Amino acid sequence: MKILVTGGCGFIGSNFIRYFLKSYPDYSLINVDKLTYAGNLENLSDLSHSPRYHFIRGDIADAPRIEELISKGVEAIVNFAAESHVDRSIEDPGAFMKTNVFGTFVLLEAVRKAFPKQRIRFLHISTDEVYGSLGETGAFTEETPLAPNSPYSASKTAADMLVRAYHHTYGIPAVITRCSNNYGPYQFPEKLIPLMISNAIEDKNLPIYGDGMHVRDWIYVEDHCRALDVVLHRGKEGEVYNVGGRSEKPNLTVAKTILDRLGKSHSLIRYVADRPGHDRRYAIDFSKIKRELGWKPSVSFEEGISLTVEWYQTHREWWKKIKTGEYLDYYKRMYQDR
Ligand code: NAD
Ligand code: TYD
Repeated sequence: MKILVTGGCGFIGSNFIRYFLKSYPDYSLINVDKLTYAGNLENLSDLSHSPRYHFIRGDIADAPRIEELISKGVEAIVNFAAESHVDRSIEDPGAFMKTNVFGTFVLLEAVRKAFPKQRIRFLHISTDEVYGSLGETGAFTEETPLAPNSPYSASKTAADMLVRAYHHTYGIPAVITRCSNNYGPYQFPEKLIPLMISNAIEDKNLPIYGDGMHVRDWIYVEDHCRALDVVLHRGKEGEVYNVGGRSEKPNLTVAKTILDRLGKSHSLIRYVADRPGHDRRYAIDFSKIKRELGWKPSVSFEEGISLTVEWYQTHREWWKKIKTGEYLDYYKRMYQDR
């Protein structure tokens, strides 16, 4: 199979490419990535000599480029490309609309134009954040009404609606996955877990928003890749599949677990002003993908966090290089005087 992966130089995309090349020795993958601040060629530097992997610097919103790329026998698109950080979407939402909404539209248009002569399966990587926020109990199912609260989640919801409409109207073979918070190797250190681990290693404060009791359902990135594998190959066209980690944790517990793993004091925790519109709790009901496709998460939070802490300890060069320049400006804007 020939797959066009978008945003493959980011966190989940790079893990997916490595997982797929290993799992399917007869597949070839083209990775189109704009290399924004979050895209990093080093995430896949070990694959640069693989004849089955091809990198192209490009923007998913560039229609002629995308049409040219898929005309070369592409059989599936896996769309990871996105602006992905909620805090940055609050600061400056424009890029989120361009990539997450318009970019997805451009990809769908390319698939539509090729269809039905060329039948390209479109796997769209969405998020549980499209469902909004939960109270103390319950979990998101695929039937939960969409109620996004941040510019990021609103842009992802708009993209999901486009995918739905293109399947319904034109019959293009599309599927959507909505996954909870991922963690693991190669995650950009603006997100909670890599930020906490790298700050703790450097004996810097761990900034916790509000009371620290906001809950996320953490999934180890490899489990997400395994879910994408079954949905890409066997998911029903036009369907949505929720993917979750069965690991609901308040942010404060996550921070304390990381400090304990590193043998650092809890006094590094610093409470800072809350994020505007901060969703209180996410939890995923993944019974549909389990029932229909036989997937369930296999890595516990305890195992996953140990692997992740170890990875950041042994890959200091990787994140230290990132924590310079633009990152330091961002960090100052985001955390100073908060
Ligand atoms: P990331 O920010 O680490 O990577 C995004 C990648 O997309 C980067 O390599 C970036 O250069 C690239 N990109 C951005 N704009 C582009 C454009 N216009 N054209 C081509 N490439 C572009 O993000 P991630 O955490 O790996 O997330 C990947 C996808 O998974 C996103 O769609 C995100 O919404 C979704 N998702 C993420 C999580 C999570 O916890 N990280 C959970 C559920 C869903
Ligand atoms: P994040 O990793 O940004 O993912 P998302 O907002 O998409 O869920 O944040 C995860 C949780 O951690 C969220 O409740 C916000 C919180 N958080 C902090 O408390 N401090 C931080 O420095 C960051 C980045 C996040």
